[in-house]
Amino acid sequence: MTMSEPVLLKRIPTSPWGDASERHVVHLEEFLLTGGYESLRKAIGMKREDVVSLVKDCVLRGRGGAGFPAGLKWSFLPEPDGGKRYLCINCDEAEPGTFKDRLLVDYDPHLVLEGIAIACWACQIDVAYFFIRGEYHHQAKVMEEAVREAYEHGIFGGKGLLGGAVDQVVDCYVHRSAGAYICGEETGLLEAIEGKRGWPRIKPPFPAVKGVFGRPTLVNNVETLACVGPIIEHGAEWWKGHGCESSVGGPPSYGPKLMGVSGHVNRPGVYECDLGIPLKELIESDRYCGGMRGGKRFKGAIAGGVSMGVLGPDQYEAEMDFDIGTRYDVLGLGTACPTVFDEDTDMVAVARNLARFFKNESCGQCTPCREGADWMLKLLLRIEHGGGTFKDLDLLMEIAGSMGLTPGTTICGLADGNNWAVRTIVSKFRGEFEARLKPTLVPVTISS
Ligand SMILES: Cc1cc2nc3c(=O)[nH]c(=O)nc-3n(C[C@H](O)[C@H](O)[C@H](O)COP(=O)(O)O)c2cc1C
Repeated sequence: MTMSEPVLLKRIPTSPWGDASERHVVHLEEFLLTGGYESLRKAIGMKREDVVSLVKDCVLRGRGGAGFPAGLKWSFLPEPDGGKRYLCINCDEAEPGTFKDRLLVDYDPHLVLEGIAIACWACQIDVAYFFIRGEYHHQAKVMEEAVREAYEHGIFGGKGLLGGAVDQVVDCYVHRSAGAYICGEETGLLEAIEGKRGWPRIKPPFPAVKGVFGRPTLVNNVETLACVGPIIEHGAEWWKGHGCESSVGGPPSYGPKLMGVSGHVNRPGVYECDLGIPLKELIESDRYCGGMRGGKRFKGAIAGGVSMGVLGPDQYEAEMDFDIGTRYDVLGLGTACPTVFDEDTDMVAVARNLARFFKNESCGQCTPCREGADWMLKLLLRIEHGGGTFKDLDLLMEIAGSMGLTPGTTICGLADGNNWAVRTIVSKFRGEFEARLKPTLVPVTISS
């Protein structure tokens, strides 16, 4: 199941493939010497529709959280009408526990830029906005430098892609986010790029039809785009040789995937694995995390970014693929960045901490999210401090359900993330919550 050679991290020494102290930014010269921009050369030698078909055939599922197939999304763009078309690269990465895109930008920014240039070629895009988390100051500088190098080398601007090999001119800009989780939601991101408050838009219309500045726009995650160069280089059969088929009759989970592991493990970090690797192997293998910290027992894990909910103690073997939601009662694979908890973790405190995050990050547009997040935090604080009742616990679950289980109650997925985070912790660790509740008074009848 695991892979021998890294693909996305091939230029980034990372355990088990190298010593982290050897890491350095791969500048243009080194990128070119190691085969960089050859995939772009190959792609522009192909028909645009063949590039889109290849990505479609690979079922490259979006790495930003929702797992939507990239090739399919690309094919939703309408025919060019002479006006501008945009690509927005989502590097907001503001979800607690998720830190995989940062590694790519930190050390191999041209791998991402090559994927961007190929996507722009395939989808006839004029302008790419690299939208990067506000707190990623260093990474923004690294990316700005890489973009400058790419312009100098004729990848962007000038007479056309790759030094005028084709006459399609693409411009690429780095745009810093303002530091709110909601700006990672794709339409909040579009608003932010337009200089407005990052309030998600009602869909439809979807960005492919009416995106930034009202024009056709693709929104893709950093890692999704980083996969495009290797796909062009090695082809569909190679890609499908990594990962796994669906075990529940859904679309497959092909390809390598970055998994950023944090929490109570010996070696937290970003690892590249084939999709489908069991969480237990990711944690215990010496190739990856090297076991639970201090030899403690596994208690649970956030499946992949806090919006996905938690896996319980009996779900240690969960396969890290896009079926995880259906099989293990979590929302989904998300960003495949698990946060691991050992036996000493206070799950009530975890739930309260996550609820606080969602309350702070709700943009306030939708009533169920704005009000629900506030009430959930209040109830969890009361339960944590021993003042809660069984009714409070029921109310907590009812509010969570009202924020997520009925589709369409809110504009974006933030409230649903809150619902999954809190509801799965309560349902999988209910005993811990009940042990904190005030004892219920049983009425006693005094007979004379
Ligand atoms: C509240 C919220 C925050 C999000 N943050 C991110 C993010 O930081 N990065 C990201 O790629 N996708 C994020 N997404 C998902 C995006 O809306 C979108 O699905 C994704 O960027 C599409 O790229 P992909 O298809 O390549 O995965 C977020 C979604 C929500 C609801």
